Amino acid sequence: MILIPSKKKKMSHYFSPTHTSADRIKKLFVSLRNQNMVLQTAREVFSPENIDKGTEILINALILPSSIENAYFLDLGAGYGPISIWLSKYLAFHELTQQTAQTPPITSLNYKIFASEVNERALWLLKRNIVSNKCGNIEILPGPFQDSVEKLKSSNIKFNAVYTNPPLKTGHKNMLELFEAAADLLTENGFIQYVHKKKLGSEGFQAKLLDIKPTWNIKTIKKQSGYHVILFSPKPLNISSRKSSTSGYF
Ligand SMILES: C[S@@+](CC[C@H](N)C(=O)[O-])C[C@H]1O[C@@H](n2cnc3c(N)ncnc32)[C@H](O)[C@@H]1O
Repeated sequence: MILIPSKKKKMSHYFSPTHTSADRIKKLFVSLRNQNMVLQTAREVFSPENIDKGTEILINALILPSSIENAYFLDLGAGYGPISIWLSKYLAFHELTQQTAQTPPITSLNYKIFASEVNERALWLLKRNIVSNKCGNIEILPGPFQDSVEKLKSSNIKFNAVYTNPPLKTGHKNMLELFEAAADLLTENGFIQYVHKKKLGSEGFQAKLLDIKPTWNIKTIKKQSGYHVILFSPKPLNISSRKSSTSGYF
């Protein structure tokens, strides 16, 4: 009798750099905080059927730096781009609505959003979504974020805000590495804002972040549907005064 070895199908995950299944493009029509986006998704990227609940909660609670002029933003683990694209549209909308009859013409505040992503299919979708949503100020950082750090440092880029729905399934060790790399690229008044499922160890992970940056501040600013939205920053942030500001940032 001849035994034919069974062909084991290699599984790939949303955080794998490459993918194995055929793509099957799907369009999501998403409206959040007055910004409409059409996002193309496909299998083997994170949350292909709908925008992820955690991402939605993060965007709804997203905080901007006190000034966006010349600001650098990082979307860490951008996937097919919901956070970067929403932010780009929101900031453009903000620029337009801030113009008054006294301040023509429209000025460019010269901010930039960096979108870091490792998964090739997500990168392909991200590029398409940036073009189709007409977001001119997003630059993609392809590959593991840790590999982009030197390039960013040599270009003197420091982030005013880092937003992330982190790859929880890769484990806390990998996530800590990502957060540590991002933390080293923050401005003095910068912050990391992220979302974490409570049952996937949100509180334990906060303790680990404080182990690597014991003098930093960490605060849960929103709890919704089992998700925590957390701010991690070298300096305390006065969120309530920003919330009541008339800048339209919130
Ligand atoms: C939870 S998903 C969030 C995706 C997207 N931001 C969203 O909200 O739909 C995390 C993303 O991080 C990416 N990722 C994992 N490890 C990474 C790394 N070392 N560098 C950059 N991106 C990474 C994964 O491929 C995945 O797309």
